[in-house]
Order: sequence, then structure tokens, then C-alpha cells
Amino acid sequence: MKVVALQGSPNDDGLTASLAEAALDGAAQAGAEVELVGLTDHEIAHCGQCADGWGKCREEGLCVIDDGFADVRAKVLEADAWVLVTPVYFGELSECVKAFTDRLRRCNIGAKGEGLVEKPVIGVAAAGGSGGGIATCLVAIDRLFSHTNAEIADLITVTRRSADYKREAVRAAARAMVEGIGE
Ligand SMILES: Cc1cc2nc3c(=O)[nH]c(=O)nc-3n(C[C@H](O)[C@H](O)[C@H](O)COP(=O)(O)O)c2cc1C
Repeated sequence: MKVVALQGSPNDDGLTASLAEAALDGAAQAGAEVELVGLTDHEIAHCGQCADGWGKCREEGLCVIDDGFADVRAKVLEADAWVLVTPVYFGELSECVKAFTDRLRRCNIGAKGEGLVEKPVIGVAAAGGSGGGIATCLVAIDRLFSHTNAEIADLITVTRRSADYKREAVRAAARAMVEGIGE
């Protein structure tokens, strides 16, 4: 059983990273092998909108850009469940999360959902500023998971004020997600 958590902040010791670590801690408590991926540690360009808007992604489930995308995508496809934790930037996904997930959902179409459909996932929006924009960010996560026909285990919002108790909720959600696999 493998669980991978993608986190989208450049800060290894910030709020977003701590939530990804809590999720992996919960997954490990339930017996999963876990891996943390910091998306800013990988060179992942934004989608090039090939040809008339679709490229190999639509036909073959592959992206023609030769960068770190394929490696991270492979980790998600190979995992039994995954967690996506993004800091809220301007009420949206952070830029590295957007770049990765835009290409992920495109390739998912050509791959006919293989490796993502009905895969359990938890989404976390971490709004460490005013807390504004947290709902629109969560909507973007929900849309992504809908486009990949994921099995949404949970969608969780976290602010500076809620961080301590929501960190425990993230841990519990990941533990329950792993415990529920195969049931
Ligand atoms: C460009 C930028 C935009 C941000 N926009 C928001 C926002 O809309 N709402 C909010 O609550 N926090 C916002 N923040 C704060 C982040 O959500 C986050 O808490 C902060 O970057 C520190 O997170 P970290 O410790 O996980 O790196 C923003 C931060 C940055 C750098």
C-alpha cells in the first residue's frame, strides 16, 4: 500500500508542508508506505496548449514537454491513494500545483483514466494569510478531482487559526482513507 502526498509550497517547514506531513503520518499509522513530493523541487512547466489546444495528451495520455512532470505523474499513478496540499494563493492553487494538475488532467483523458479513476484522494487548501479565497481554492481542487473521476476521501480547508486542530483532522482523514482501501 503506497500513499504519495504532493505539496505546493516552496517552504519545507511551512504550514502547507506540515499538513502534507500530517497526512503521511496518518497514512503510515494505517500501515502505508509513504512519500512526500515537494512540487517546487521539480521543474514542471505550464501546459503548452499544443496544436489547436490538444496534443498527445488527448490521444496517447502523454505530454510532449520533457521535464519533471512525467516522474511526478508516475508517482501518483503508481500510488494506491494520494493527497494534494496547496497553499492558497490569490484564492487559487499555487502556481506549481496548477502547472502539474493542468497537465495531469489532460493526460488522464488520453490515458482513459488509467491510474486515477476511483483512486482515493484528499485535497487540502491551506490559507495562511487572511483566510480569504479558501473556498474558491477548494472549488478548484474539487473540479480537478471531478475531472479525474477520483474517489474523494475528503476536502479540507485550513487557516492560520484552525491549523492546530485541522492538522489532526488531516492526519485522521489520511488514516481513514488508507484503512478504507479495499473495503
Ligand atoms: C502570492 C501569494 C498569494 C497568497 N494569497 C493568499 C490568499 O488569497 N489567501 C490567504 O489566506 N493566504 C494567501 N497567501 C498566504 C498563503 O496561503 C500561505 O499561507 C503562505 O504563503 C505561507 O504558506 P506556507 O507556510 O505553507 O509556505 C498568499 C501567499 C502568497 C505568496
